[in-house]
Amino acid sequence: MQPTVIAPSILSANFAKLGEEVDHVLAAGADWVHFDVMDNHYVPNLTIGPMVCEALRKHGVTAPIDVHLMVEPVDRIVPDFAKAGASIISFHPEASAHVHRTVQLIKSHGCQAGLVLNPATPIEVLDWVLEDLDLVLLMSVNPGFGGQSFIPSALEKLRRVRERIDRSGKAIRLEIDGGVKADNIAEIAAAGADTFVAGSAIFNAPGSGKHGYAEVIGRMK
Ligand code: DX5
Ligand code: ZN
Repeated sequence: MQPTVIAPSILSANFAKLGEEVDHVLAAGADWVHFDVMDNHYVPNLTIGPMVCEALRKHGVTAPIDVHLMVEPVDRIVPDFAKAGASIISFHPEASAHVHRTVQLIKSHGCQAGLVLNPATPIEVLDWVLEDLDLVLLMSVNPGFGGQSFIPSALEKLRRVRERIDRSGKAIRLEIDGGVKADNIAEIAAAGADTFVAGSAIFNAPGSGKHGYAEVIGRMK
């Protein structure tokens, strides 16, 4: 199991003050920045692209940027995100014609590669590709929006994927995304996750701003 990572999803941040918001969550103890890219095609929402990633790097963000691509097709945006400073790039197998090729494409651009499983995507999609991955991201909500409730079947899925990762003997992270809160994170960690995305639970925490963020991230850790 890898050391625990808390990755605030900036989807729930105040976009008018994005640089400041990212500085504040990192100062509050966050480890990574989770960067949700939605294209109004693979998912109904429309968010941010490589220019915003690059702007965060220019602003001085040195923490890993964990790019979650909810775009279709996926391959043509990969080089742009690598150039913009992405550290990890994850994608949905449904959005790639050739999953193995997309994994290799991400790595050939110097980034770590992750595969994202929607709540109803069977874990067999990991067959033949697991050992090439740096990260498996399990969705515990349907992708597209922040602030949804954690789908309980994700716990059993976490256990099963944890088993497969352990059996592989590789240092592959197991990330969970959707509905993660301070009061369910212990149960999620016990099921095998080591990397936790949280958007609304952090950015909408009572008394938000620097102190609110530190309080909720501290409780999660
Ligand atoms: C949903 C995104 C998530 C989302 C999580 O498609 O991938 O990263 O921002 O938000 P919360 O933590 O509010 O469920
Ligand atoms: Zn995400």
